[in-house]
Amino acid sequence: MSTSWSIYVIALVAANIIGCVWLLVANRKSKTGGEGESVGHEFDGIEELNTPMPGWWIWMFWITIAFAIAYLLAFPGLGNYAGFLGWTSIQQYETEIASADAQYGPLFAGFYATPVPDLLGDDQAIEIGSRLFANNCAICHGSDARGGRHYPNLTDDDWLYGGTPEIIVQTVTDGRNGVMPPLGAAIGGEQGVREMAQHVLSLSGRKHDAAMAAVAAPKFQTLCAVCHGPTGTGNQAMGAPNLTDDIWLHGGRVEHIEEQITLGRNNQMPAHRDILTPEKIHLVALYVYSLSNSKQ
Ligand code: HEC
Ligand code: HEC
Repeated sequence: MSTSWSIYVIALVAANIIGCVWLLVANRKSKTGGEGESVGHEFDGIEELNTPMPGWWIWMFWITIAFAIAYLLAFPGLGNYAGFLGWTSIQQYETEIASADAQYGPLFAGFYATPVPDLLGDDQAIEIGSRLFANNCAICHGSDARGGRHYPNLTDDDWLYGGTPEIIVQTVTDGRNGVMPPLGAAIGGEQGVREMAQHVLSLSGRKHDAAMAAVAAPKFQTLCAVCHGPTGTGNQAMGAPNLTDDIWLHGGRVEHIEEQITLGRNNQMPAHRDILTPEKIHLVALYVYSLSNSKQ
């Protein structure tokens, strides 16, 4: 804050306090008539008497004003004046973080040194992981981790990238970016897309038009197999989903599949390296891992 703004703020605050003092002094006693006498207003037989404000009420105001002055001297509040206690919110935050680190540091370090599968029986570690999940991941993957359209379900054993502890840690740390190019034009426009969608349906044994699927089958080998594999079982190294399991990340209706083929997809899981420490990622990965791997 520049000096002139600071002076302006200090003057405003001081004027307000002085105003309160003035209001209190000026209204302590009524000036019309003696105590308990009528002030001369009467409505329908109800008269206004000159009754002074109760002492305790006045005192409460004096105490409030004294508190305000003491507070403004001790803490920041008067423009650039920092207060004689030297308190800052950043300092308080840092002290709290430091004391939390001192308190929980050894606990986190102990978990961090233990491989994820060995922590499956540790309720405390899983509980911490589940809190971290609720705060950082539930917004996209749902509070039950079952995901939704475009956000993968983390409780099943169908994985885009893989479900080992190492891969989950890598997914959370570095993020993921699932990219499929738009292929509408390459497979011959709308008709080609409709045929290919029927072929995709056939891969997971769903109801489909066999003739249309057969037309698309060779195109699947030339255009799709490179990522989804020749039989459509997917490729975790590329994040290309398994198309044979009837689990759909982007929706399983035929329109959804046609949209996916026509427009492609660019789906992003944000990196958490700057949000969570490695110790915390270890525990949130444990929680995710525990959802599809029971105690050993
Ligand atoms: C902003 C939304 C968002 C947030 C927040 C988010 N994710 Fe994700 N996550 C996604 C999306 C979208 C994908 C799918 C990426 C893709 O399609 O390539 C994904 C994928 C994943 C995968 C890979 C699943 C698989 O099948 O291989 C894991 C594991 C995962 N997230 C865990 C987490 C955890 C743990 C957190 C919290 C620390 C988290 N995510 C936070 C959106 C999010
Ligand atoms: C360059 C690699 C690549 C090619 C080529 C490719 N895909 Fe994909 N496909 C992906 C990836 C990666 C995803 C998942 C995107 C994501 O993470 O959101 C995907 C997702 C899909 C989905 C959505 C699956 C679901 O669970 O919702 C369908 C359907 C699909 N592809 C069909 C096809 C078909 C049909 C072709 C050929 C015409 C094709 N893909 C070609 C990489 C590819």
